[in-house]
Amino acid sequence: MLKGKTVLLGVTGGIAAYKAAALASALVKLHAAVEVVMTAHATEFITPLTFEQLTGRRVMVDTFDRNFTHQVEHISLAQRTDLVIIAPATANICAKLAHGLADDMLTTTVLACRCPKLIAPAMNTNMYENPVTQDNLELLRHYGWEVIEPASGRLACGAVGKGKMPEPEDLTEHILHHIAFPHDLTGKHILVTGGPTRESLDPVRYLTNRSTGKMGYALAKMAMLRGADVTLVSGPTDIPAPKFVKLIRVESAAQMFAAVTEESPHADYIFMAAAVADYTPANYSDEKIKKKDGDLSIPLERTQDILKYLGSHRREDQVICGFSMETENLLENSQKKLLSKNVDMICANNLKTEGAGFGVDTNVITVITKNGIAELPLQSKESAAAAIIDSALTLSNN
Ligand code: CTP
Repeated sequence: MLKGKTVLLGVTGGIAAYKAAALASALVKLHAAVEVVMTAHATEFITPLTFEQLTGRRVMVDTFDRNFTHQVEHISLAQRTDLVIIAPATANICAKLAHGLADDMLTTTVLACRCPKLIAPAMNTNMYENPVTQDNLELLRHYGWEVIEPASGRLACGAVGKGKMPEPEDLTEHILHHIAFPHDLTGKHILVTGGPTRESLDPVRYLTNRSTGKMGYALAKMAMLRGADVTLVSGPTDIPAPKFVKLIRVESAAQMFAAVTEESPHADYIFMAAAVADYTPANYSDEKIKKKDGDLSIPLERTQDILKYLGSHRREDQVICGFSMETENLLENSQKKLLSKNVDMICANNLKTEGAGFGVDTNVITVITKNGIAELPLQSKESAAAAIIDSALTLSNN
């Protein structure tokens, strides 16, 4: 996702500097060109060689290094940088950057950067909470920096509190949010549903289905990475909450209906990827149902069809997309859904097609609209999500 992007990773002299190596490695795996600039103090904690091995590039520490390729290396580097992240950031670097001090390679380069800038302060809790540090962080925000809050936990000094550098995976999410894709969905509100629903029978049992939520979560993530305001209404899944997405967790079809209809009036695009139960037990037993001799029948009643409700209560300018999972007559059944539910688009897949079933990381989608049918190739759910969003954008009335 970071192919063709240059990330400047500034490393300063705190114990968390060792975690910056994992961050550099993660960014390289995403195909970023990672330029590491260290302060002299940082080199006391971790050697430039570590970063050089991970990134395949020379680490810069000294502004006056005679071996630089460019005459004015800090300006040349600033010009080709797509994003700056300083992790870990000491109280000292926060103070210097907040006040425009530029007395080494890192501060001079960063001062010349016009791209998005992120800073991850990491220090002792008292240092972090000191009003002077907080004022400096506020100043950085004022100058357009994104300050990534430190995590809480056991710190190197032995104290327990706020001041830990967030994990490299967390920092990577922040970076991706800024530069992975052009923000062509800024200002758009996108509502996505994902996962199964769970229909309770008694305090012990429930009816559900095999949906894992991967497709819905991929849609929410891709829309978020393209700058949209995303709300994800999710049935029970094992997938961690996606960052920068408003997540509403629900269990039953009735709860999903309530959450979706509350959010839908604000949505420009709606993607109903959830596998909502069509039936729910007609009666819920407060006590565990005890077995008896002979068979048992459970009366079920229909749940509300959320997609159909949205189709008949739609805002004129909304684009609504439903999903259709079939085992036979894919096109015929899905085209019927497009009409009967009054939606703009159906993403259909056949459960029996290799790579398109439940739980896998890929999908084979056929996009059906009133204008025609487009068959997408076998691809990751994330690529499929991007293609689905693109298709919805072509139908856009807003
Ligand atoms: N859906 C919904 N509310 C329901 C059931 C389904 O909003 N109570 C949505 C799903 O999120 C999906 C689409 O409707 O976007 C699926 O259509 P549906 O006709 O319910 O599919 P199936 O249940 O697979 O249809 P059938 O049982 O007729 O095969």
